[in-house]
Amino acid sequence: MRLTTLATTFLILALGAIAVAGDETRGTVTSDHKLGPRSDPMPTGWSKRNITINVGGVERTVLADGPGSGTYSCEPVPYPIIISYHGRGATASHMRNLSHFHDRKYCSVVVYPKGLDGLGRDSNETSFGTLKSCWQGAPYCTPRVPGTGPPETIRDDVAFFDAIIERVRTEYGSWAAMDRIYVAGKSNGAEFANYLACYHGDQIAAIAPVSGPFYYATAGLLDADPTCSPRHPIPVINFHGDADRAVKYQGSGRWETCEGPLCDPPGRVGRIPNLPKWAAAWGGLNGCRLQELDVAVPEAVQPSSGQETFLSRYYGCNGDVEVLHYRTKNGLHDWPSLNENEDNTHDDKTFELTPPVLGTMDATEAIFQFFMRFTLRP
Ligand SMILES: *[C@@H]1O[C@H](CO)[C@@H](O)[C@H](O)[C@H]1NC(C)=O
Ligand SMILES: *[C@@H]1O[C@H](CO)[C@@H](O)[C@H](O)[C@H]1NC(C)=O
Ligand SMILES: *[C@@H]1O[C@H](CO)[C@@H](O)[C@H](O)[C@H]1NC(C)=O
Repeated sequence: MRLTTLATTFLILALGAIAVAGDETRGTVTSDHKLGPRSDPMPTGWSKRNITINVGGVERTVLADGPGSGTYSCEPVPYPIIISYHGRGATASHMRNLSHFHDRKYCSVVVYPKGLDGLGRDSNETSFGTLKSCWQGAPYCTPRVPGTGPPETIRDDVAFFDAIIERVRTEYGSWAAMDRIYVAGKSNGAEFANYLACYHGDQIAAIAPVSGPFYYATAGLLDADPTCSPRHPIPVINFHGDADRAVKYQGSGRWETCEGPLCDPPGRVGRIPNLPKWAAAWGGLNGCRLQELDVAVPEAVQPSSGQETFLSRYYGCNGDVEVLHYRTKNGLHDWPSLNENEDNTHDDKTFELTPPVLGTMDATEAIFQFFMRFTLRP
């Protein structure tokens, strides 16, 4: 365990003061569910339902779950809203399996959105032209969607996010807690959760990016993304395996660019940041004054896979938010789970792993408990 040094504390203070000056009254606070009578009739509820949403003429789909009269009812209401984004090349049902926020014990409205295909290239794909589902902000996720033009469909995952929230509002009315909207994501989906928090976080109460490549839009190796500008402090809980081969914990000099006619603008650069520096940058953005770095979590060990857990925590922040960064020693590119899931049974979705490589903790449970501490302040 390394202790806070005066110098880093001052740096964090200074960054925080710049980042959220004048915005101290906005943000998130701990609060209880607001129980009480609802003004709208009880919704039917969503139970593993595919829903299509028109976003600027483009048909988008989500897999949705949620309580209601036709599915199951639960207390307390209003229900929290959790939007959980899959990784590149994955599906909504894959993310449903990984994050299972629709478990009844969580009593939440849960949406697993499906990404449109992007045409791109990363370091191990030698030619431009691999078609995979993806989210905006990643350089391989071309702004123009291939196979739909010309003129090609223009991807707008941010408008899709807004449309999802509107759909929840329409379906659930006062049964949904619009001040408790949480965004989780795995890998490219984690990148998108971070992207929303940086550029479009007004309605977001907290984020949970897992194993994310955050693609700073710069060719230089910077400690923080100078373009990330949240309008209020945002609680962050993050997990990353230090043996992740797809998204390296130390960051990578490897950078990816979007090339070809589907890029707009062409040549967008994305560099994967060092994870501890990325977490520290969120501590700075949130004006956190205190930190504990890389402290062992003794109960979170997994003898079967040799994994252990270390927590970095930034606290004493504006809006009473907190930043938690869990490093899984020997952890892979997985959604941490004590049980078998579609990540730990497969190496990068290709090779089967038997037995599964189990994690040190249930990320979903930790994320949910973290989310419940924060409500968006009006
Ligand atoms: C939802 O759509 C996907 C993709 O088209 C399909 O594979 C899946 O079976 C559908 N799920 C449900 C519950 O209808
Ligand atoms: C996810 O998939 C695994 C098998 O890969 C299965 O054992 C598990 O029950 C599934 N979990 C959920 C929540 O669907
Ligand atoms: C990329 O290729 C290198 C060299 O072939 C290999 O060692 C590495 O594991 C690959 N990375 C991924 C993410 O597939």
